[in-house]
Amino acid sequence: MAFGSVLSILGLVLPLLSVNGLRTKRSLCPDGVNTAINQACCALFPIVDDLKENLFDNECGDAAHGALRLVFHDAIGISPSLGGGGADGSIATFNETELTFHANTGIDDVLDAVGPFLQKHSNVLTPGDFIQLAGAISLVQCPGAPRIPFFMGRTHPVAASPPGLVPEPFDSVQTILKRFGEVGFTSDEVVAVVGGSHSIAGADDIVPNEQGVPFDQTPSLFDTQIFVDVQLRGTMFTGQGGQQGEVQSAVAGLVRLQSDHLLARDSATNCAWQSFVNNQPKLAAAFGSGVLKLSLLGQNQAKMTDCSEVIPKAIPFTGGPATLPPGQTMNDIEQACATAAFPSLATQPGPATAVPQIPQAV
Ligand code: HEM
Ligand SMILES: *[C@@H]1O[C@H](CO)[C@@H](O)[C@H](O)[C@H]1NC(C)=O
Repeated sequence: MAFGSVLSILGLVLPLLSVNGLRTKRSLCPDGVNTAINQACCALFPIVDDLKENLFDNECGDAAHGALRLVFHDAIGISPSLGGGGADGSIATFNETELTFHANTGIDDVLDAVGPFLQKHSNVLTPGDFIQLAGAISLVQCPGAPRIPFFMGRTHPVAASPPGLVPEPFDSVQTILKRFGEVGFTSDEVVAVVGGSHSIAGADDIVPNEQGVPFDQTPSLFDTQIFVDVQLRGTMFTGQGGQQGEVQSAVAGLVRLQSDHLLARDSATNCAWQSFVNNQPKLAAAFGSGVLKLSLLGQNQAKMTDCSEVIPKAIPFTGGPATLPPGQTMNDIEQACATAAFPSLATQPGPATAVPQIPQAV
């Protein structure tokens, strides 16, 4: 078990080491400021700075969350039977088509924020490269999130993604695992990418009349609290809310996706879900390799340029262990995994207060 997680950490770290350590020396970029091993990556440094400062405001906030969601909604648009280009930027170039897909609700706002930067840097990066670079930069705004590699060289998208490829929150676990399985993801990888991303996330659209409703108590920390908050007992909506795939959370201020709720409980995924609780290194490693895999869907890595060296350092994890909200005990955890007990957690002191909404980018 420990061996497995060490291997997965190595899997993530080695590509970075081989880029930064083994290959050759860094030399000065034409800007006279930055240095790079691969001079083809020099043009990316000003773009990275622009995104950090002007798109993300150096924060793990709404804009960073949106850029990460965009990574997924672009990349997952590929299927062995139906076609699609994967992480090709089609969600931006063919927005007129892809934004009509129900599962892409809210991506219009993300593209409103990201689009001007994509246009501004289109002389250097294709839409597919831009979206994946922005996603990698969004992660290093979030304490605890991994620094993932970035490969450059996606060609321009040739067509919109076929409809029906982006999972919906009201899909069953079986449907979700089948969809991800078609593009090579195991059930453990699904739990890592979904749970990890939703630890820095919230809903801007699916909760009627509300924006920035967090999925866990710490939406600007990449941590394992989501795996606790979703395992607390929750009430399935039966009316309109249920149709939208929401579950009433046991924590005031949060919303829970029905898909997250079911991934935490289904026998195919519940032990993997639980295994991330208070295992920050395991989550960061499994999530990092899962997002890298998403970023390469439909792409040929061997033909791409490794520009991982432009990605800034990760922000170390600063939070404490995952906890139960005030007033709740281990009895409020809806144990689902049959083969291991849920890790024992402390309860936060004090009266329960609603988790604040995530301030909106604009
Ligand atoms: C079963 C798969 C998934 C489903 C059904 C799903 C569904 C959703 C839904 C419904 C929202 C809220 C949208 C809104 O109202 O604004 C959301 C937010 C988000 N999702 Fe997912 N998601 C899935 C997987 C993923 C994956 C794999 C990633 C990234 C690797 C991701 C990243 C995010 C992020 C970062 C947000 C927050 C966006 C924001 O706060 O503005 N999701 N997701
Ligand atoms: C698609 O993107 C273009 C360029 O950014 C924008 O002008 C247009 O309004 C977008 N269309 C939709 C449906 O979002």
